[in-house]
Amino acid sequence: MRVPFLRCPFTRADIDAVSAVMRTAEASKGRAVEDLETALRRYHGVPHAITCNSGTSALDLIWRAYLINGDLHRGDKVIVPSFTFAAVAASVANAGLVPVFADIYPGTWTIDPASVDMTVCKPKAIVAVHTFGVPCDMDAICDFARQHHLLLIEDCAESLGATFKSKKVGSFGDAAILSFNATKNITSGEGGAVLTASWKLADTVGLLREHGIVPVADKPGYRSTAYAGYGLRLPNLNAAIALSQFARLDEMNHARRWVAGFYRDNINPDLYIDQARPAGAVPVYQIYATRVASARAGLRDKLFAALKGAGIEAKIYFAPPLHLHPCYLDPVHRTRALPVTERLAERIIALPCYPTVPDADRHIVASALNTYFVGEGEDP
Ligand SMILES: Cc1ncc(COP(=O)(O)O)c(C=O)c1O
Repeated sequence: MRVPFLRCPFTRADIDAVSAVMRTAEASKGRAVEDLETALRRYHGVPHAITCNSGTSALDLIWRAYLINGDLHRGDKVIVPSFTFAAVAASVANAGLVPVFADIYPGTWTIDPASVDMTVCKPKAIVAVHTFGVPCDMDAICDFARQHHLLLIEDCAESLGATFKSKKVGSFGDAAILSFNATKNITSGEGGAVLTASWKLADTVGLLREHGIVPVADKPGYRSTAYAGYGLRLPNLNAAIALSQFARLDEMNHARRWVAGFYRDNINPDLYIDQARPAGAVPVYQIYATRVASARAGLRDKLFAALKGAGIEAKIYFAPPLHLHPCYLDPVHRTRALPVTERLAERIIALPCYPTVPDADRHIVASALNTYFVGEGEDP
């Protein structure tokens, strides 16, 4: 591709950090994991951060821990957005819980909890995904969760470093997850973490992450299993990369905002509609996406193909949306229609947005988008 969607922003410092761990005997467990957890805790102002090997694992661990601790029970319903990544709903379903899909706001593309019929659904938890790095309106979400006595899980896989009214996302809910996969705001290849203020949740998540194994009282060296757990640790080698990247997080997020700002200033607003931000939200644009303004059927897909033909790698999110996936067609997963989600999923296109997008690439992308519509859908 002439213009790739992503180049991982690894630096000499990241390479040095992982090399340093390679020279120790701490490839699996070790100091970098502890330091990363401390850094995440401090940055978010939450008492507990537990790393694991992916954002998906972080979600799995939270649901399983809530079941073990008796905060949730099998068959309980959990409100999730349909316009998001598959792992959000799959983690709920895999835990024996029932995902119920909500629509999104047309401007911010984040979850609209009022779109769920609460008399039909009777949920026990809600997942607020800060979509593409744009924070949800956390005043509204926290009020909703409080009013309906719901556990609030923030999915910050796409939003590490974003703030709402000067407070870091990930510090509002009962628990939150982070992801460090290659496309995210920091990466360790793959990786993730659970954030929470609850020592009980943190304790169970920590145990489950390491097979549920506990020492046996008065029997030095003996180990027993408290809960049938998993092997989901973040390797120390990967933690060293994440920690090194974390030192540059704010700088890299600033650069992402700059790239997004360039697109916003240089892409014709009559043709494309930008993702709105709730008042008080500072986004971090893990993804920069824009919405094709024209309602002409199939236009976004033609644009996507035309960009590919011109050597520009764009992405389509999230089409089809989750509630239309074969495994969620059962009516139990929906209380109402999701018209905003369905319309948006046909019209969004994501553009290269990472901290080091070259000047030339940004100009090529903006000009391709603007000229595509000169002949109402001609090749750029
Ligand atoms: C909103 C959301 N939740 C969860 C995940 C899962 O994270 P991971 O890829 O680290 O498993 C992702 C991303 O990939 C995501 O975008």
